[in-house]
Amino acid sequence: MSQVLENIKTRRSVRSYQDAQIPREQLEQILTAGLYAPSAKNSQLCQFTVVQGKEKLEALRDAIAKAIHNPDYHHFYNAPTLVMVSAPKDYPLAVPDCAVALENMFLAAHDLKLGSVWINQLGGICDQPEIRSILTKYGVPESHNVYGCAAIGYPAVEIAPDRENRDKVVFA
Ligand SMILES: Cc1cc2nc3c(=O)[nH]c(=O)nc-3n(C[C@H](O)[C@H](O)[C@H](O)COP(=O)(O)O)c2cc1C
Repeated sequence: MSQVLENIKTRRSVRSYQDAQIPREQLEQILTAGLYAPSAKNSQLCQFTVVQGKEKLEALRDAIAKAIHNPDYHHFYNAPTLVMVSAPKDYPLAVPDCAVALENMFLAAHDLKLGSVWINQLGGICDQPEIRSILTKYGVPESHNVYGCAAIGYPAVEIAPDRENRDKVVFA
């Protein structure tokens, strides 16, 4: 099997991370993978906002917990890096463009032996005032929504690849 297929088949969402930060060089490679993702009409409208550091991550996490009325919200699974992928609210293909960029980043992270997982909660709450104020502070344009985030770090658990879904493939 090619390395690319092997990488796709063995990637899994990681939901427990070590405290150690990922090297800047690896982060840059992951971001490059996101930047090289396909986009509708090659519009390349996604922005990748990197959030690192306990204080910033906790401020965002606490605001999300408040916005979704869940005081127990503990995500981002202790990951030391969060990449928020945003695009203009009025761009009709924002969701698929952000999604393919995220998958590119997940695969790049896995290739680098890092863990990652999609964090979805910001999707519908970006314009709640407390969330928007943090997003603005972190550099997300007011005209953007965050359509998904990648939590990235060194896995604290081993993930077993265990999926076979051939029944989802149909030849007409
Ligand atoms: C659109 C989307 C939203 C997701 N949101 C979350 C999330 O908020 N938190 C989380 O832990 N996993 C999230 N996931 C990860 C899925 O739960 C995960 O991909 C799925 O269970 C399959 O497992 P795997 O990634 O290990 O193959 C999301 C995945 C997608 C595609």
